[in-house]
Amino acid sequence: RGFLPTPDPLTSFNTDQYDSMTSEYLQRLDQVGDNLPDLIESGEVRPVLRSLEKPPAGLLDKLNDREMIRLCQLSGFFASAYVNYGQLIGEDDSVLPAGMAIPLYETSEEIGRKPILSYDLLCLHNFQRKDPDGDLSVENLDLIQSFTHHDDERWFVIIHVAIEAAAGPAITACSTAQQAVREDDPELLLRKLHTIEESLVEQTSIMQRMTEGNDTSVFANEYRPYYYGFDEIIFEGVNELEGTPQSLRGGSGAQSSILPSIDATLGIKHDATKMIEKLDDMRSYMPPFHRNTITELDTGPDIKEYVAKQGSDELRRAYNNCITNLITFRKVHFRQISQYIREETGDTTGTGGTNYAYYLQKMKEETEAARID
Ligand code: ALA
Repeated sequence: RGFLPTPDPLTSFNTDQYDSMTSEYLQRLDQVGDNLPDLIESGEVRPVLRSLEKPPAGLLDKLNDREMIRLCQLSGFFASAYVNYGQLIGEDDSVLPAGMAIPLYETSEEIGRKPILSYDLLCLHNFQRKDPDGDLSVENLDLIQSFTHHDDERWFVIIHVAIEAAAGPAITACSTAQQAVREDDPELLLRKLHTIEESLVEQTSIMQRMTEGNDTSVFANEYRPYYYGFDEIIFEGVNELEGTPQSLRGGSGAQSSILPSIDATLGIKHDATKMIEKLDDMRSYMPPFHRNTITELDTGPDIKEYVAKQGSDELRRAYNNCITNLITFRKVHFRQISQYIREETGDTTGTGGTNYAYYLQKMKEETEAARID
């Protein structure tokens, strides 16, 4: 499953086991989550979210990991709906009320993530299967939480989830490939490079389906506006922050750990200092285990150097095929970014806060440079 959680995320709280105060609190959150698209549509979203209670004392100690993530996910969606809807209607008071700020901050601290709706909550933990025994294919996936009723939003999320699922074999192969270098086993390395290549082909073909169900103007006008980051937002009731306004990046594919893991394994070098700074900052928006996986792969043996030294045509071809397919993935992605963001919104900055065209272009060039002649 790569970076997708096992088992599947919770779609609602199981409140039977809790005292009445706790179960009422959690049920209310489930209900507001279900109604969020309606509340946004009717314009009632800010007063309803503002009226949410603070969590009952000691709540976090009672929750298991999946419940903790669900609480974080709902608070993250509520906070982004609240702040960004405020921006849309020009009612920007820069204070996130305690009923959202406290659970978002506290669960995020517990998990080791930033207190905002990032790629993990938007995509990695935002799926369910129509047939629970079926696979994680586009046809069998649904999302859990959304801002709107547009099927385009569902499609946008599940395409990301299906790509993450298709990346699973590559991520496992990345670590085995490095193990093969440690053990000086070129046969094993060759097999793992083939797995990475096949997975990249599959990821790209899923990504190409984005346009099938996600209209560019629905993306730009209906749900993307809720993915923006926070600019100087005060988290009411969070004593640890001492009233300091928080600026945080919004959701971005740069917070997915797939390509950083594959780049690290194939030894693709990012040489521009500013670029490394941004990429490192994006990593701080990934779940700690994913971030650590990239660091492990970054510090592992140099596959490129090993392949170059072996002098085997077969191995070099397999390595270069990975590079070729990684470039194809990046090209297809770049085209979609142009189509959805640049042409439709005119924005030169993505919701993650970067000059995406510059960075993505640079990534393509750096990938190209890794090819072994
Ligand atoms: N990160 C994507 C954007 O900027 C969602 O539009």
